Amino acid sequence: MTADSTALAHRRIFVTTALPYANGKFHLGHMMEYIQADIWVRFQRMQGHEVHWVCADDTHGAPIMIAAEKAGKSPQEFVAEIAATRKEYLDGFHLSIDNWHSTDSPENVELAQDIYRKLRDFVRDGKPASFIERRSVEQFYDPVKGMFLPDRYIKGECPKCGTKDQYGDSCENCSAVYAPTDLKNPYSVLSGATPEMRSSEHFFFRLSDPQCVEFLREWTDGANSFDRHGKKRLQSEIIAKTKEWLGEDGKLGDWDISRDAPYFGIPIPDEPGKYFYVWLDAPVGYLAALKNYFETGKAKANGESRTFAEFMAADDTEQIHFIGKDIVYFHVLFWPAMLKFAGYKTPDSVNVHGFVTVSGEKMSKSRGTGIDPLKYLQLGMNPEWMRYYLAAKLNPHVEDIDFTAEDFMARVNSDLIGKFVNIASRSAGFLHKHFDGRIWDGKLAKYTKSVMPDASLEIAAFYDAREFGKAIRRIMEVADTVNWFYDAGKPWELAKKIAGDETARDSLQCTCSAALESFRQLCIMLAPALPELSRLGFEFLGIPHQTWADVANTLTAGHVIKPYNHLMSRVEEKQLDELFGLLPGETQKAAALKPSSKGASSRNTANKPVESGPQANTSEKSSEFISIDDFTKIDLRIAKIVNAEHVEGSDKLLRLTLDVGEADASGQPKTRNVFSGIKSAYAPENLIGQFTVVVANLAPRKMKFGVSEGMVLAASGKEDDNGTTDGNSASGLYILNPHAGARAGMKVT
Ligand code: 2FM
Ligand code: ZN
Repeated sequence: MTADSTALAHRRIFVTTALPYANGKFHLGHMMEYIQADIWVRFQRMQGHEVHWVCADDTHGAPIMIAAEKAGKSPQEFVAEIAATRKEYLDGFHLSIDNWHSTDSPENVELAQDIYRKLRDFVRDGKPASFIERRSVEQFYDPVKGMFLPDRYIKGECPKCGTKDQYGDSCENCSAVYAPTDLKNPYSVLSGATPEMRSSEHFFFRLSDPQCVEFLREWTDGANSFDRHGKKRLQSEIIAKTKEWLGEDGKLGDWDISRDAPYFGIPIPDEPGKYFYVWLDAPVGYLAALKNYFETGKAKANGESRTFAEFMAADDTEQIHFIGKDIVYFHVLFWPAMLKFAGYKTPDSVNVHGFVTVSGEKMSKSRGTGIDPLKYLQLGMNPEWMRYYLAAKLNPHVEDIDFTAEDFMARVNSDLIGKFVNIASRSAGFLHKHFDGRIWDGKLAKYTKSVMPDASLEIAAFYDAREFGKAIRRIMEVADTVNWFYDAGKPWELAKKIAGDETARDSLQCTCSAALESFRQLCIMLAPALPELSRLGFEFLGIPHQTWADVANTLTAGHVIKPYNHLMSRVEEKQLDELFGLLPGETQKAAALKPSSKGASSRNTANKPVESGPQANTSEKSSEFISIDDFTKIDLRIAKIVNAEHVEGSDKLLRLTLDVGEADASGQPKTRNVFSGIKSAYAPENLIGQFTVVVANLAPRKMKFGVSEGMVLAASGKEDDNGTTDGNSASGLYILNPHAGARAGMKVT
């Protein structure tokens, strides 16, 4: 068999994923990038190609140095502790990375310094033509900490609107953009001291050199830039971006690659007290991780017997990067230019992906949105559910992909389990019960071909092009066909008549065997995305690990399959509730008003987490009083309901868009999204335009359907979700309405 990529000669590929900063835990975005790369890497390996995938911690820079100091640790100790947490995630999500290294390593020092020296000592036409230039730079200096301050570590008053405590680059109030030196009354975030202007010598990489611009134009140009397989080196969206950056009269600014001591980084050769800016040595970390992989014998163990130098010098070595859309500039301009003029191999392609959003929201720690991948694993959720879900949504474009709980459950339970796993579970029983698990001894290959569309070439081409969503869709279409074929054969009816009916007996064994042969082929085609589920599938079939070429084989006549054990369980709603912190104990934690603040909990609130279980309730009959201070903690505001709509999948909630009299940084009116459990009492269209009262300072709360940014007050006389009643015989649910004249944003006191 030959798929597009299998027609290629044996490929030797060096793959990288972006090096994560060593000052934080992994989030779902990291896992998405690794899963994307892993699927591609596993697919190429299944084609018989040689793939070496490395990654590392990105350890250097001022933020990590400062975080380490705050934690009372050396930067080395600090990053080592983060590094020790990585394995749990990587193994947990079945990521086949060959070597995990660090940018704070001897290999990186050697390579970064070598690249710098080559750029510094560049000679053109026999004459020195250095790509490194020294320039004096004026910068704020913290006299107490004894260090130059990066922009984010300087605050002061906005030069335009006077708002206090604004960062050195832009104002959060009026959105003005300025230089840190424009701030009024600046202070150091680190010490509070007034920074002084000092000048210091910095080193610049001369990206503006015409030779460099010309190289980058050519390297990035869509029309000319194809990799060795005739595929575009960059995605069309990225080519368009680089055209903007390198446009007709576009000139790249030179790049400041140095930082002054104290700095956690790699020393610049022959320049005491100067260090490489973290973004200079970070991508070099790709090469350092690969060098370490070769020099520790791991490459050899993976079948590559050449040295690192030989591997990198070989014409057929492909260098392929996977990155997110936020770091494109570094990877398609700085990085290839550095490599080119230092005489190193330049990348063959840079594959850029978008971000992951959760229920349409950007993940944010401070807003409590997002999914913690470690929590996901610790809850015992199957990593391959997540791999399947992301694979089904991934494409080769720079598009964000959205995670929603309902979609996740539906795709895993209905498609993966209901269609694919189902083929094995339904046919294994009959084969074991009536045939001792033996495969039919007729013409199984031929018969299976007649029931199962041959989509393996098409699917291989999808994987190769990172069209994983299309690959998964096609696989599920094939699974559908196999299920239809199975249903049409009605094996449950055949099973009733096999005693004395040889034709029925043969037909039953044939149908189940063809279903299992199809299952085998589907396991192969799903293996890049679902390596563990496929492995379990092969184990159940009693066959060894399969490569892509094995699609062309067939289960042999008389082969005995193993007893069927559950291959994968279904996702349960309560697992997702737990993942999102929506179980009873956790919803309390998520609320800004603690249960002890009776002023809040004794109110009837229309948006209790009705979808996810009871919220702790504090007795209304409590004899304790609250102080006026307790009451004033609650910011009650008049809200105008500017929109109301049903929430798909929820029989209790309405989604309200509220005007609470707020504006964004540019002065534009800003609305809030609030989920309210009032669907039983109101048709959404009747609410639009009404005024009500909202608890405006309730911490945003992630719910299954998105983030709720407040709580609408309502009176209710019916039994609440805890099963308790207020003793009032009247029932119903009534949102509060102020008297006419109240305006959005007014404070309720
Ligand atoms: O943006 C980031 O998280 C960087 N640490 C990525 C570095 S990628 C490569 F250049 F090392
Ligand atoms: Zn301002």
